[in-house]
Amino acid sequence: MKIVHAASELYPYMKTGGLADAVASLTGALVDRGHEVAVFLPGYRSVVDDPDAAEAVTVLRPKIEMGDVFMSGEIKTFSPRVGLTVYLVCRDEFFDRRNAYGTGERDYEDNHHRFIFFCKGVVETMRLLRMNADVIHCHDWQTGLLPLLLRHAEQRHGDVLAMRTVFTIHNIAFQGVFPMRSFYRTNLPDELMGIDGVEYYGQLSMMKGGILFADRVATVSPQYAKEIQTPEFGCGLDGVIATRDEDLVGLLNGIDRNVWNPATDEMLPSKYDARDLAGKKLCREALLARHGFDSDFKGPVFGMVCRLTTQKGVDLVLANREFFKREEVRLIVLGSGDARLQEGLRELAASLTRKVALCTRNDECMSHLIEAGSDFFLMPSRFEPCGLNQMYSQVYGTIPIVTNVGGLVDTVKDLAGNPLNGTGIVISPTAEGVLAGLRRAQALYGDKARYRSAQLRAMQTEFGWDKAVAGYEALYD
Ligand code: ADP
Ligand code: GLC
Repeated sequence: MKIVHAASELYPYMKTGGLADAVASLTGALVDRGHEVAVFLPGYRSVVDDPDAAEAVTVLRPKIEMGDVFMSGEIKTFSPRVGLTVYLVCRDEFFDRRNAYGTGERDYEDNHHRFIFFCKGVVETMRLLRMNADVIHCHDWQTGLLPLLLRHAEQRHGDVLAMRTVFTIHNIAFQGVFPMRSFYRTNLPDELMGIDGVEYYGQLSMMKGGILFADRVATVSPQYAKEIQTPEFGCGLDGVIATRDEDLVGLLNGIDRNVWNPATDEMLPSKYDARDLAGKKLCREALLARHGFDSDFKGPVFGMVCRLTTQKGVDLVLANREFFKREEVRLIVLGSGDARLQEGLRELAASLTRKVALCTRNDECMSHLIEAGSDFFLMPSRFEPCGLNQMYSQVYGTIPIVTNVGGLVDTVKDLAGNPLNGTGIVISPTAEGVLAGLRRAQALYGDKARYRSAQLRAMQTEFGWDKAVAGYEALYD
């Protein structure tokens, strides 16, 4: 099949979270299955400057209609591997910036214009290059208007640009809601401004557009597909989702074993596999030493890698300061985000310099070292559409401590109740739940035989893309 993806992130060119990994590994897996795949990405500075893009050629310089003006854009393309073409929608005013969505706490103020422009750039390129896709697969709110813009362009020009459209919700908490006055930039018919269109409490919701107007809607785990139909997890869009329940499917993300595999991981100081964990011990020592801790430390090491947000339950960890003060454990956190949470962790690390470390860089190598060098991976999310780190930690032989939500439910079996096939510790998303998880982890760590067998089972769990790709192929069909 000829499959076009459009997304605002793609590993390794632009990544703020799991979206980048998921789009890269899904598209890679589709290429492995013999499909012809193109991925559209905004031409951010980091992509244009990437060595892979050094050979990029300009294939179009379209004039994009944005309301009552036409804006010029440039479409560059390169091919990182056979079967995969990346198209960059460039316009320096919008994308020649360091970040994807904003700096620190603040989103860029023109994100609505940036991503309307991006979606229109995709449509124009598909039209002018006569791409004739079987499917266009859109990811998250940044591409939410694409199915509508595509059908509108088809009607206007009498072409068929893509047979079918798919919209995947990676996180319904981010909806791309903007003042309705920006709607005119879409050049879509006015009737779409209403409740049956993209209107959401008087504003323009890009995610609602994707949910209502794609032929099929997917999300990244079966459990999250159920959850987003409830008021508790639907973030106000549960009613809209309910209208598409027949067309909604939850397909669990896989992980890219070429990037996340302790036996081949070049980012680690030492490689290892389930047969020989000596390398994991060296990674642990290196991790401790890098953060100024004694590399001989004998107690449990807890790792955490995430955006510092309430989604990830960082406040639930902070509520357990006393635990870290009293117990002989280490906690190493890699992440940045919410200023209050970041400050809370900074204070904790400053008051417990011997035990807690915080690294706020964006550091891909450190994220691999934490997965490999920790004994437990802490992920107390309040909601988690899929979550990748709990899968990465399992294949790295690091026991995940996760809450009973979303994709975490679909990927981690609790050791309690599943002594023969459990691979992790499942808790409730509360401060008490986190404390219970930390205590269970201490007890498990003290029982070397039980810890070791859980670790080996975790490492053997299959988290590849085979199943999800088959699911997407069926959906495309
Ligand atoms: P989400 O997409 O909600 O942020 P996921 O678990 O799906 O959560 O994916 C998060 C991804 O982002 C993982 O690959 C994780 O390692 C990575 N990540 C988060 N923060 C950092 C950071 N500061 N440095 C490097 N990688 C990070
Ligand atoms: C989102 C979700 C995360 C998921 C990722 C990739 O960022 O928060 O749970 O793993 O997308 O689908």
